[in-house]
Amino acid sequence: MSDNSSSPSHRHVLTLLDLTPNEVRRVLFLAAELKSKFKRGVRPTVLNGQVLALLFQKQSLRTRVSFESGIRHLGGSSLYLADDVGFGKREPTQDIATILGSYVDAIVFRGYRHQDCVDLAKYAHCPVINGLTDHSHPCQALADAMTVLEAFGEDAANHRPLTVTYVGDGNNVARSLAEVCGHLGWRFRLASPAAYSLEPECFTQLSAKFPQASFRAYTDPLEAARDSHVLYTDVWTSMGQEAERDERLMAFTPFQINAPLMSAADPAAIFLHCLPAIRGEEVTADVIDGPQSRIYAQAENRMHAQKGLLYWLLHDRFCHES
Ligand code: CP
Ligand code: NVA
Repeated sequence: MSDNSSSPSHRHVLTLLDLTPNEVRRVLFLAAELKSKFKRGVRPTVLNGQVLALLFQKQSLRTRVSFESGIRHLGGSSLYLADDVGFGKREPTQDIATILGSYVDAIVFRGYRHQDCVDLAKYAHCPVINGLTDHSHPCQALADAMTVLEAFGEDAANHRPLTVTYVGDGNNVARSLAEVCGHLGWRFRLASPAAYSLEPECFTQLSAKFPQASFRAYTDPLEAARDSHVLYTDVWTSMGQEAERDERLMAFTPFQINAPLMSAADPAAIFLHCLPAIRGEEVTADVIDGPQSRIYAQAENRMHAQKGLLYWLLHDRFCHES
């Protein structure tokens, strides 16, 4: 490991606004290439010897296993660090970040407060990737975009603006989905109860940053779903919000994705969900397990998208920079 003071310029991915549209497209291109190679039994070990730390405060299946498998496919290895690190309890974040960053090549953080992820990035002398905070879930959105591009084809996605409609809680997953839609010039619609929408500044900021895309909030799910190419939802009660479950159930019941809502969308529309899902709450079983659902391809793409991200962050970037 090189001396921190002379470490090469590293990049963090705390939200998708940390990347440019071209960088997002490059990551998605690399992800598709790595996926195609993987399916043919080819695993380029460009990250030979590199170590990825996963510092997790919350449960995970997809994010943890897809990162741990993905870094191994690329020749590296991983360390899963949960409660025993005592993050937020045992020592200051500054000390954890500085020391962990001197041992490993990149850190994936999953936690509650987005500020903790920002603080880790401030002090760690290696890239920090947000593996989900209460604010954002950028790795999820990369896999979501990859799944949409696979379903509609690069050409279709480039030549007619796709409409991606998220129905439910204006949460971490919704925010990152809006950001990736901005990068790709798509139309993003969010249908949620007014009290659970993304903040208006988020729509204003994204509209200004991505003028070729569009962002609109709805309170009527049927109106939002009309002619959409993608209907997307997430749980109504995210990790850490369990005490609000009853009031959330009441507020979100009209925002369930079910067969009538799917039939308002484009006939070729697909259904996406970041998972885990609660069948019968935010989505009915006939939709999530039905022919329009792409949830398993989407979950699989977490691994390919993150391999593209790791490849870009830790290797590809340095091949093109002078
Ligand atoms: N979608 C997602 O992030 O899944 P996990 O919580 O299982 O990582
Ligand atoms: N919004 C959910 C996503 C889980 C992948 C949560 O934060 O718990």
